[in-house]
Amino acid sequence: MKRTKIKDILKNEESGYQVNVKGWVRSFRNNQFIAINDGSCMGNIQAVISLETDPEIVKNITTGASLSIDGTVIPSLGKGQKVEIKVDSITILGLCNTEEFPLQLKNKPSLEYLREIAHLRFRTNTFGAVFRVRHTLAYAIHKFYNDRGFVYMHTPIVTASDAEGAGEMFCVTTLPINNPPRNEDGEINYKEDFFGRCTNLTVSGQLEAELGAMAFSEVYTFGPTFRAENSNTARHLAEFWMIEPEVAFNDIVDNMDLAEDFIKYVIAYALEHNREDIEFLATRLVDEEKQKPMNERSEMGLVEKLEFVLNNSFERITYTEAIEVLLNSTHYKKKKFQYDVKWGIDMQSEHERYLVEKHYKKPVIVTGYPKDIKAFYMRQNDDGKTVAAMDILVPGIGELVGGSQREERLDKLTQRMNEMHIPTDEMYWYLDTRKFGTVPHAGFGLGFERLVLFVTGMTNIRDVIPFPRTPKNAEF
Ligand code: 4AD
Ligand code: MG
Repeated sequence: MKRTKIKDILKNEESGYQVNVKGWVRSFRNNQFIAINDGSCMGNIQAVISLETDPEIVKNITTGASLSIDGTVIPSLGKGQKVEIKVDSITILGLCNTEEFPLQLKNKPSLEYLREIAHLRFRTNTFGAVFRVRHTLAYAIHKFYNDRGFVYMHTPIVTASDAEGAGEMFCVTTLPINNPPRNEDGEINYKEDFFGRCTNLTVSGQLEAELGAMAFSEVYTFGPTFRAENSNTARHLAEFWMIEPEVAFNDIVDNMDLAEDFIKYVIAYALEHNREDIEFLATRLVDEEKQKPMNERSEMGLVEKLEFVLNNSFERITYTEAIEVLLNSTHYKKKKFQYDVKWGIDMQSEHERYLVEKHYKKPVIVTGYPKDIKAFYMRQNDDGKTVAAMDILVPGIGELVGGSQREERLDKLTQRMNEMHIPTDEMYWYLDTRKFGTVPHAGFGLGFERLVLFVTGMTNIRDVIPFPRTPKNAEF
């Protein structure tokens, strides 16, 4: 018989038909009641076996074992489920040694412990919910851009450019690291390397996306991104996924509108399609918050928070206004910020979180950053000091989006690149877009894992990507 997914049986709520179900045992009670999960949804189906079942089989029905059952869907007398399966026949597909099975041994394993067994953690309710939501968000992202006529562009993963100019890159080489070929000056001779030049893993697909936008008008990328920054925080990964739309003819205001619509759309989509998972994660969050002191607990539950974001406009302020808010805060006056506040600083996450969590209590879009703390490609404002940059800050996370209107004027762009020692000759292909039919354009990058954090209410970024890569950690 063809396998039926547990999700469909539970959704359907009908009874009196035959099914085959395959999955993993979550629990087995009274030698009779098996809770089976196949990952299609949060819920388990209860399968009831007869007390006459072969004891050789019964003994192997243990937590974690995989099995296939044939039976009849019947109305359930037990609490918590409308239907259950009366089992006719049962086959154990794979045994599970409960003396070794980590998920059996620990009662309520911590998230930290589950990170160490990331190869098994998908089988818990929490990670089942997180990764189903992650999937839905990825799908919603493609749907959002597809429905608006954007072209999905695959930008290279191996590249010779440092898009952000921050220099935090992983080198890609086939040269022997203990004895690389050297030129006369003693420097490594990359001419002998695989690509005949020094290459690295991409830190952003933006520059290539800009090339596409000059032909298709609207493009987006959605791919893996690598940063060798040594930030061991709950918000940074060395390998993360980024969505980068790039739109010809858009200015900074259009860019903000697009980002706000985009974020709201994907949140609404997840709330609609993964309600059960998000509600489960909301209860998980309530439990987690109970460990925190009263004044650090969030005022809203997860679902409330997401609905609040959907129903309210993001606050839009300038960087200069943001600095003023910080300087006027009692938090600043009581010297509670670890890092100094003055015009020109690159705001630290404590500053960003103060703005969104304490002051505005909603997502905030900050524009007009000092040019000295932003990348070379951002459009220079007339004041000579700031650029048309925008960051979107959200409660609990800090920076979710970074973007800008781009400098489309060739002279201004080359001048800025020279000031910042960015080699204009190597970047001839980027400058060509400004020579051949340049247009105003804008785009941004949204960190996918930070979005998943926001929607699931998880607090550590390592818990929203299947196999996190962080400093000193590339297990699995
Ligand atoms: O602000 P960033 O560095 O912007 C860019 O890379 C631009 N090229 C984007 C563009 O305009 N097309 O990164 C964008 C977003 C950040 O706001 C953050 O959400 C995420 O990427 N991000 C990270 N997420 C996880 N781990 C890291 N190490 C991250 N670094 C950035
Ligand atoms: Mg940024």
